[in-house]
Amino acid sequence: MRRNFNMYLVLTVSYFASSLLLDAKPEFKHSQKILQRTLANHAVLLHQTLNYHWNVEGKEFHDYHLLFDKEYHELFKNLDLIAERLRAVGGKAAASMKHFIDTASIQEDNGPTPEASVMIKKLHDQYHRVIEDMRKAVKDLEKSGDIATRKVLEDLVEMDEKITWMLKSLLKK
Ligand SMILES: [Fe+2]
Repeated sequence: MRRNFNMYLVLTVSYFASSLLLDAKPEFKHSQKILQRTLANHAVLLHQTLNYHWNVEGKEFHDYHLLFDKEYHELFKNLDLIAERLRAVGGKAAASMKHFIDTASIQEDNGPTPEASVMIKKLHDQYHRVIEDMRKAVKDLEKSGDIATRKVLEDLVEMDEKITWMLKSLLKK
């Protein structure tokens, strides 16, 4: 009985010690900040893409409506991926609209609905800024032991570069 109690005590103490260790690691604190900003940036992109999907007009309507549809689904998947990594490094995924807007390094387009080609240009420039932000973050994390967050960001850079390339191609006359 006493042995069982001792074993229980050891397991309980080591569980709390390991969770404290995860929370306390400075590299994880830094990762949390980066991931929160990345989450906010992608949330702004998601809402803006939805906005454009719903409101696009003109002769490109069909193509752009479908492109934005595909992209907002992709963004939604990525948002989940970022938020879950944030939880895995001990952070809370702050997910209110206000928090996203305050934390993002890009500004949402909250003006009147732009022309279809302006939508493409705005999204292109925002993706470009978000990619630059993540590139810096990957460099920041180079010496960190948090290799998994680095990998998440590298994968996001690759996916976002692909959409930036597609948007850039649409901007060519
Ligand atoms: Fe739709």
